[in-house]
Order: sequence, then C-alpha cells, then structure tokens
Amino acid sequence: MKKQSIVIAGGGSTYTPGIVMMLLDNLDKLPIKTLKLYDNDAERQEILAKALKIVLDEQAPEIEFSYTTDPKVAFEGVDFCMAHIRTGQYRMRELDEKIPLKFGLVGQETCGPGGIAYGMRSIGDMIELIDYMEKYAPNAWMLNYSNPAAIVAEACRVLRPEAKVINMCDMPVGTLRRMSQIIGKTPDELTVRYFGLNHFGWWTSVKDQEGHEYLPEIRDYVAENGYLTQIEVDTQHMDQSWQETHKKAKDLLAVNPRYLPNTYLKYYLYPDYVVEHSNPEYTRANEVMAGREKRVFDAARKIIETGKCGEGDFHIDNHALFIVDLARAIAFNTGERMLLIVPNNGAISNFRQDAMVEVPCIVGTDGPEPLCQGDIPTFERGMMEQQVAVEKLIVEAWVEKSYQKMWQALTLSKTVPSAKVAKDVLDALIEVNTEYWPELK
Ligand code: NAD
Ligand code: G6P
Ligand code: MN
Repeated sequence: MKKQSIVIAGGGSTYTPGIVMMLLDNLDKLPIKTLKLYDNDAERQEILAKALKIVLDEQAPEIEFSYTTDPKVAFEGVDFCMAHIRTGQYRMRELDEKIPLKFGLVGQETCGPGGIAYGMRSIGDMIELIDYMEKYAPNAWMLNYSNPAAIVAEACRVLRPEAKVINMCDMPVGTLRRMSQIIGKTPDELTVRYFGLNHFGWWTSVKDQEGHEYLPEIRDYVAENGYLTQIEVDTQHMDQSWQETHKKAKDLLAVNPRYLPNTYLKYYLYPDYVVEHSNPEYTRANEVMAGREKRVFDAARKIIETGKCGEGDFHIDNHALFIVDLARAIAFNTGERMLLIVPNNGAISNFRQDAMVEVPCIVGTDGPEPLCQGDIPTFERGMMEQQVAVEKLIVEAWVEKSYQKMWQALTLSKTVPSAKVAKDVLDALIEVNTEYWPELK
C-alpha cells in the first residue's frame, strides 16, 4: 500500500487531535508518509501542533509531521486535504446562534438564519482552499466536512464543478451507530438506503447481510425514545443539548412515520419548540467553548508542559473513522459504500437534477458513484424543494452580491415566518458579518 501524504486544513480545529489519533490508530488501513497541519490562525494551530508533535514522536516517529500557515508549503505534494475550517471561529458561531434568537428564530450552526450566515462566510474560504489544492497539488482530493456542508457543497457545484472535492457529514454515521445499538448489531453489519439534503434527510431501509429489514423495529424504538440509547459512545454528542436532539427524533417520526428522520429536521419541523427551549444568553457555541474547546486545548497545553501524552489527554475520534474509509476508498479503490453529498443527477429520480443531495454512493479511485434511490414521496420532496431553493439562493446571492436573493433565501427558509422578519434578521446579520460577507447590493 502506497503511503499517503495528508494535510489537515483547519489544523487548529477542536477535531484535529481526535482525527490525528484516529489516523494513527488506522495506519494499517491507511499508511501515512507525511502529515501536515494548515490553518490561518498560527497561534491557535501551534498549541495543537506542538502537542501532536509529541504524540507523533511517541507513536509514529516515521511520519514526517509539520504545521504551517503557508498554503504552498501546506498543499505541495499531498494526496488528500481533510478540511474542517470554521470561518470566523466560535466568536461568529455565537452570533449566528444569538442574533436569530433575538428575533424569535432558530439559532443554529447550520440550520436557519445562523446556518445561512455561516454559509455566506464559508463560501469564499472554501473556494480559496480548493484553489490552493488545485494549484499546489493538482492530483489531490479534498475530503471536506467544513460546515454548513449543504451550502458549501452547492458552492462547489456552481463555482468549481470539476474540482476533486467530496463533501460529507458525520451525522448519518453517528445515527447509524445508534440504530445498530438499538437492534444489537454493529454498523458494519448494516446497509442503509437514505435520501435527502445535508442535515435534511431520511433512512428508507436498514438491512443486515441476510437482507432482514430492521426499519420497523428501529421505528418502534424511536417512537418511544428517539435515538437515545444506553450505550453512548459518541464524543461531541454526549452533551446535554445533543441528548435532547436525539430524543426529539421521536416527535419527528410522529409527523412522518414512514421513514427514519435525520435529527436536524427538528429545526424545520419544530422551530417554535427549539426557540422556546433555547437560552438566548447561552447557546451551543458557549457550551462548546466551555466544553470541547477547553478540554482539547487544556489537554494540548498539558502535553506540551509535561512533554508526553498521558492516558486520556487526546482521544481517538472513532466517530471520524469514515474519513479513513473515504480516503482508503479513493487511494486503494475499495468500493466502499458511504453516504455522501453529491450532485443529484438522477439519484433521487423525481427531484431536481441540479441539487446537491445526500445519498449512498460507491467510492473508488474516481470518487463517489451515487446509487439510485428512486422516487420520493410528496411530503419529503416538498420540504426538500423548499430547502434546496434556500441553499441555491444563498450561493447565487454570494456570487451576484445580491441583497434581494439573500432576503428571498431567508424568506423561503421554513424556520422564518415572514418576509418582514427575514429582512430584520438579514439586516442584523449583515451588520456583524461585514468582514466576511461580500458587500450586498
Ligand atoms: P474550530 O473553530 O475549533 O476549528 C476551525 C479552525 O479552522 C480554526 O482553527 C480556524 O482558525 C480555522 N480556519 C478558519 N478559516 C480558515 C481558513 N480560511 N483556512 C484555514 N483555516 C481556517 O471549529 P470546530 O468546532 O472544531 O469545527 C471545525 C469545522 O468542522 C466546522 O466547520 C464544523 O462545523 C465542522 N464539522 C463538521 C462535521 C460534519 O459532519 N460535516 C462534524 C463536525 C464538525
Ligand atoms: C454533528 C453534525 C456536524 C456538526 C456537529 C456540531 O456531528 O453532523 O455537521 O458540525 O454535529 O457539533 P457541535 O458539537 O460543534 O455542536
Ligand atoms: Mn454534519
């Protein structure tokens, strides 16, 4: 197996240590020659990089490890860019969540007005990243999980259609793990069918190797408990707010019992509930800053101070194993079946062809080949038509610098009740995003 060279973009991300630990745990599956970190915040990245250097010296000194803020140094010679950047960092995530709440709207990282604001910030940086890769490593693939993945994916489709970028999400993997616990199986024993947009989809089938259909059994469990399970193995999904989200799937199923819902549908089906149960002074960004960010950076500082990685300082992010599976599928043509965000092109037969959809794909050296999921019913299709139009309008607004299209996007979002409120929240978001958004006309 050829050893791979990898750059992690967003080297200063709270997820970087977990992903590096996971890569080290899987060197037999995906051998690594070079590992580089790249970020545009040198100081933030350096804390994690210095700690990871110690970990690598302990566990895999043969890997050439470095970190940089220079895109040329970062991208030259790599086979893969694993990208998880956050334009504007948590400071802006906090505003994405708190500003909509002031208007009585859902305040969320990827859904509703907050997700739209984040999308407008991310597009430019993601395109810049792709351009660096194409310039310095023309044969490389970008495995992107920077959010909001739906909007980023649409921007890639429109602005860099030929680029070797695959957008993906860990939510289906995480939820499948919960489903497997419900029925006493492991995720690798199960094959699913699924359709939707990112953070906006449904499982239509969950089968084992013998072809037994578990959907009814899982549905009975979810109707009572949501996706809450006894064995909680996730990392970021352990927090209280996430537990509530998994539980809420129960009410999503009640509206539409035919299929198993993605938990993110709660922001579209129960926005009033979500707002009532949000604290406008303390949102998920605050929870993450006080929780995951503090834990990860405290651990890094401790490793640097003591010169060694103690038990439990950095954890393997098993949740992110699908990134290794995806890289392996491309590097070694494994034909792995995975849920990815790809141009529809008929995968959902009665849905617009030019949408970025999330469906099962077979992945090999040429990237993902979507599997046809056939026709979808009216309820799901209606919701998806509306949401995909929002995502398309945002990308058009970014390209054309159009205030009008941003207003339309917000007006069309199922999380916003009227054009008036849409305009008010838009104006407030523009005010704090001047550094990041194009100036709208
Ligand atoms: P974080 O703020 O800790 O990390 C993001 C890093 O990206 C920061 O160090 C920041 O300086 C850096 N960055 C910002 N703009 C950059 C640019 N233009 N070039 C290079 N680096 C840049 O955030 P986090 O909570 O660790 O999350 C990272 C990203 O991963 C977010 O976009 C998050 O939404 C996403 N995420 C996605 C999934 C998924 O399922 N798709 C799962 C988890 C996290
Ligand atoms: C899930 C989603 C990601 C999202 C993350 C947020 O895993 O699939 O797209 O970024 O949750 O987690 P956080 O802990 O930052 O709220
Ligand atoms: Mn996601």
